[in-house]
This record gives sequence, C-alpha cells and structure tokens, in this order.
Amino acid sequence: MYAPRLPRIGTYAAWRETARRLARAEIPTAAVDWGLEGGDASMFDAPLPVNRGDLRVPKSFADLSRSLIPERSGRGLTLAYALLVRLQDTPKLLSNRADPQVAEARDIAKAIHRDLHKMHAFVRFREVPDTEGKRRFTAWFEPTHRIEEPVADFFVNRFGDMDWTIVTPEVTIRYHGRTLTLEAVDSLRPEASDPLEQLWTTYYSNIFNPARLKPDAMRAEMPKKYWRNMPETAAIPALIANARTRMTAMQEAGATAPAPNTARRKEKNANRPMPGLFAPAHLSDLGRDLAACTRCPLHGPATQAVPGEGPADAALMIVGEQPGDQEDVAGRPFVGPAGQMFDRLAAEAKLDRSAAYVTNAVKHFKFTQRGKRRLHQRPDAGEISACRWWLDRELASVDPELVVAMGATALHALTGDGRGLLKRRGGLEQTRDGRPLLVTLHPSYLLRLPDPESRDRAMADVRSDLSRISELLDN
Ligand code: URA
Repeated sequence: MYAPRLPRIGTYAAWRETARRLARAEIPTAAVDWGLEGGDASMFDAPLPVNRGDLRVPKSFADLSRSLIPERSGRGLTLAYALLVRLQDTPKLLSNRADPQVAEARDIAKAIHRDLHKMHAFVRFREVPDTEGKRRFTAWFEPTHRIEEPVADFFVNRFGDMDWTIVTPEVTIRYHGRTLTLEAVDSLRPEASDPLEQLWTTYYSNIFNPARLKPDAMRAEMPKKYWRNMPETAAIPALIANARTRMTAMQEAGATAPAPNTARRKEKNANRPMPGLFAPAHLSDLGRDLAACTRCPLHGPATQAVPGEGPADAALMIVGEQPGDQEDVAGRPFVGPAGQMFDRLAAEAKLDRSAAYVTNAVKHFKFTQRGKRRLHQRPDAGEISACRWWLDRELASVDPELVVAMGATALHALTGDGRGLLKRRGGLEQTRDGRPLLVTLHPSYLLRLPDPESRDRAMADVRSDLSRISELLDN
C-alpha cells in the first residue's frame, strides 16, 4: 500500500507530482491511500515498479483535477487519481458523462466552484488597529472545502491595493506589502466588531427594498451558515419581519415632500435675472446664481438646484450625474443611498471626501412621477449640455488638479465624448479644458447590480480607482 501524505499548503502541486509518479509506475487506485499531512505513513512504503513512461491526459483534466483536490473528505484526491489512471487506457473518458466516476468528479467540481463563489461573495473585512500607521483589514471565513489556496488569487486581484488577512479554521492567508503568504495554522473564530461593520449594516438596512423581498431566493443565495460572519445579516430578521409594514407605509406615503420653503424660494428666484456669459466665477456667486437657473426645463419640477460642495480650492473635484430624490430635498450632493455607497468606498480607499469638491454634471433632479413616488430619469444630451455652463464655471473657479468622473453622464459632460463608460473605466483622460480626468463607475450603478458577485467586482473596481487618487495628485 502507498500512503502519500500531502502538505496543507501546496497540496495541488504535491498531488500532481505524486500522482504522476505513481501512475507512471502503474500503481492501481486501490493500492493508494491518499491523505493530507499528519498521517504516519511515509509516501512510498513499497518500492515503485517499472516506469510506464509518459502520461497522456486531455487539457480539461488539469482544471478538473484542480477542482477535485480541495474536496474536504479526501475523496477528491482518490477520484482524481482514479481518473488519471483510467485516462491512460481510455483517453476520451472525461466526455462520458454517464461514467459514475466522471459524474461524481463533476459533482464535486461543482460543489467546489459553489464554495469558491460563496467565499468571493461573503467574505467581510473588518478594519484592525495597526501600529505602523497603515490601514489593515482582516476577515474570518469558514469554507466548506479546503479552498484557501485556489481562492487566494481572487482576493489579491480584488484587494491588491490594501493589506489584508483572511483567517479560516485551518489556514491564514496574508497579503501584506503586496506579498501573499499562506500558512497552515489552526484558528478559532474571533469576536470582532468595528465601525465599518456598523456602517455597512446601516447601509444594508437602508438599501433593503421590502418590495423586492424574496426570502426563499435570499436563503438559497445566502445560506444561513454564512450569516454569522456577515455583519449585515444581524439586521435581516427585523427587516423581513417589518417588510410588509414598510411596504404599506411606502405605498401610503406621499411623494418625497419638497422642502417647506420650496414655493417661496422658487418665487424669489423667478424674479432674479439669469447670470450672463461673463458672470463672476466665484463659487459663492455661482451658488446664488444657480438657484435661479432656468437653462433647461428640469428646474420646473425639481425642488431646487443642488450646488457642489467642498473647499473652494480643492485639488480634487468629483463629479456625479445629478441630484437624486434625497439630494433634491436636502439641497446637498451625494447624501442619499448613492452618497452612502460613495462614502463607504472612499473610506475604504483612504480618500477624504471632505477635502474634495463634490458636484454633479446636472444640477436639478430629473424624475418621473409614478403614483406617489419620484423615479430617477437619466438626463439627456440637451440637459447635460445646458448644465455644462455651471460645471465649466465650477472647474474654472475651483481649478482642481484632478477631476473624477463618476458614471457616464459626468464623463460625457466633462469630455464631450459620449462613448461607453465600461471600456473607459479606470482610465486617465482629459477634461475639455485639459485637466487630468479619472474615469470610474457611478455608485448608483453598483446599487443596481442584481447579484452580489458582480456588485463586489464593480465595488472593487471603484475602490481601486479611488485608491489611485492620492498617487495621481502627488504626481
Ligand atoms: N447621484 C448623483 O450623481 N449625485 C448625487 O448627488 C446623488 C446621486
């Protein structure tokens, strides 16, 4: 009997090398007892007989065997070897889906794929105190299978700009100073909570839409065993319990109430002349003049024009699309759900929002009234162009060193180029007046993405775009 014991880190490479040696020596599957390190048998108790020479495997076997090795019970190791041996006489074996071993291997590969997907979606980082003045994040996760090695690259690609550690009961994956290390150590679930976690829970409660509640689909996508490591799930039972009441309240509530002094403000502004072409470009004057803007029909239904805000000499200007429902009432940009998403990503990317001048390409909220609700509508090219008058003056007055376009409308307004956003995201372009312009996605786009995986991916993209800002400003 041969009893190879594979290391916990580097398992696949060790399995592959060992399996090839055994298969070349024509050792039958039943004569090999595979296991991970910790057993007492040495790798080759019995001498290896004659070498059979080169092995033949189809390309797809590499992927399949990689998926089988992390299977927790050890069955995957045995099965992968059994297939390797049989492939020598039956090269087309893997296309025979009716073969019981092939079918079992495919089922295991699917389970591993599912486990990877859950880990991609459900790892939640917490910020940990650090003595070196650097921000560090840590996460605890309990995968069903031994997927720490195959999953590590995903997190390096996604969070390559931060230092982080993911701890599982058996392995610690560490990415510090752009170096990845995996260590086989036993760990216990930590008790931890941080302000970021509370922020995320609050944010999750805010974006939770009771009208879209489908508890069964939710349970299928986010099985309960993952809940205890996801801070926002603490809020779920109460959100589900209150969903019906909240929905009724939403239906009964009127449209978002305009600010109490809207009518008075509008009347006053109606009597004010529109600023001329050579109007002063000082920000405070701009704010006053903007209130009287009638450059396009959007001023009619909106509560008020929403000016930009931030330091008048900010080095960074961030441009969104247009105020949303809550911004229209509050008179301030990015204070609603998109603003909260932006604040969270900015914090994660170590970007200080209060040091930036934050504004929108279009200054009035464009919406359609549906029953009692005001639904966002995208501004058209004419409205963007009419409002560019204000944006150009904000640019001239603030004179930022770097501009960030969040979303297609801002990008169009700032460059005059309406080509698609997704291909341009992450790029450095120029505004029409020649300033460096970083292109990223709009936070509302992230909120609209239906599945957690694509949302996580898009959030990581924005996070990585935002984390480039300080370097770009330094340069
Ligand atoms: N979306 C934007 O583009 N701007 C805001 O101010 C709010 C939501």
